[in-house]
Amino acid sequence: MSATAEPGRLTPPDVRARKGGEPLVVLTAYTTPMARLVDRHCDIVLVGDSVGMVLHGLPSTLGVTMEMMILHGQAVARGLSRALMVIDMPFASYEEGPAQAFRNAARLMAETGAAAVKLEGGVHMAETVAYLAARGIPVMGHVGLTPQAVNQLGGYRVQGRGADGDRIRGDAAAVAGAGAFAVVLEKVPDALARAISRDLAVPVIGIGASADCDGQVLVVDDMLGMFTDFRPRFVRRYAELGAEADQAIAAYAADVRARRFPAPEHVFATEPRQ
Ligand code: KIV
Repeated sequence: MSATAEPGRLTPPDVRARKGGEPLVVLTAYTTPMARLVDRHCDIVLVGDSVGMVLHGLPSTLGVTMEMMILHGQAVARGLSRALMVIDMPFASYEEGPAQAFRNAARLMAETGAAAVKLEGGVHMAETVAYLAARGIPVMGHVGLTPQAVNQLGGYRVQGRGADGDRIRGDAAAVAGAGAFAVVLEKVPDALARAISRDLAVPVIGIGASADCDGQVLVVDDMLGMFTDFRPRFVRRYAELGAEADQAIAAYAADVRARRFPAPEHVFATEPRQ
């Protein structure tokens, strides 16, 4: 169960080298079947801590644990053969300082086979990013709206409007300068995202940012219409699988109640057929 450094597998340096080239395609996955689907089409698969809300019904990402990330990371690794696997560091697993971050990042990589970790935060996380990068841990940064700081930010608001743009620009430059091989930029104005994409020497992966970023990421359950608790404006729905599943389950329930299921082809004869 390794998702790292095999032939044909995208690596963090490959991703870094895509700066200014064909846009990077990134989706989340949390299970083996979804990882298999996503692997065929994406450059990077992110085991996001959004798993807490999407699969576990948590109200935010704050309740996600190392154990949850490891379990889902192991499942995703089994489904990947070419995409780069990046795993989120959950809330409170890295903020105390570089040594705590190293311990938990190394555990996530060793126990799941992920080739890189993602962590949230800008200027205040630069020292940690540099510490990890210098010790063999590729780091993807995440600035702009950082969902683990939802309480501090007062909600899932657009970040970096007006004069606040300089703060986000400084955050992005700090993590890239500290050695992040790519930076996720979430929910910022389009013009700011374009400026940051121009500023940085590493790929900027947008979510609610700009089509001019070096790549795009979405939560796979959002774009498939499977997670419908809320719908951020930056999500485009490419399917309505939730609604389709609802219809299918309703049809099954009606068939069972009317004794239309199982049908003769689903049941077994007393003697095997010759
Ligand atoms: O947890 C997650 O899914 C993420 C992406 C939305 C970038 O961090």
